[in-house]
Amino acid sequence: MTQDELKALVGHAALHYVIPGEVVGVGTGSTVNKFIDALGTMKDQIPGAVSSSEASTARLKALGIAVFEADAVAELSVYIDGADEIDGNGFMVKGGGAALTREKIVAAQSRQFVCIADESKLVKVLGAFPLPVEVIPMASARLVRQFEALGGQAKLRMKDGAPLVTDNGQHILDVTGLKIADPLGFESKVNQWPGVVTVGVFAHQKASVCLLGTSSGVTTLTFGA
Ligand code: 5RP
Repeated sequence: MTQDELKALVGHAALHYVIPGEVVGVGTGSTVNKFIDALGTMKDQIPGAVSSSEASTARLKALGIAVFEADAVAELSVYIDGADEIDGNGFMVKGGGAALTREKIVAAQSRQFVCIADESKLVKVLGAFPLPVEVIPMASARLVRQFEALGGQAKLRMKDGAPLVTDNGQHILDVTGLKIADPLGFESKVNQWPGVVTVGVFAHQKASVCLLGTSSGVTTLTFGA
């Protein structure tokens, strides 16, 4: 199967976690796009969705699925999103689509995080994928130096010749050269650096389940608290 077919497979499998009558949390990215397309078949069974990006909101609305503000819904039973990397504990690197801050917000208000990913995303140690960090632009140069002190190289993400601007009006640094052996400690530490909006390590908001697309079908990984 191609990577695209594996993404479609897990996107469809995630429908199993959508509870009829309840609002569902929806992430961002090419795998989630497959889930959104599949969700269209259930649109009459759910009140709608809380979305983690303008891109997902547009796709949901195009299918006739209502989108609610995160603030309008106290708690979500489930949040479904992809990952750039996931390890054996359900800790993830996310933000390849620059939506990490809203993704973490919606994940935080959800009882369960269901990660959907093709098998290339499963890793032993996080850090091979360049770590996205959303930052306040005036802090960028200092944050580049702080990552250098940890042994990483941070580069400003560009789009069409200019710094990429997130849905929140901020910039993204992509950090290579890190081996994130302690995801919980790393996330806590970097999140405290002034100017960091969100670091793309999802350890405090880790996955509870991962639907992994493999050549022999969907493997379900479950992670303890
Ligand atoms: C977006 C994300 C995505 O979940 C992550 O980048 C995976 O994307 P894809 O499903 O396209 O591989 O974190 O900010």
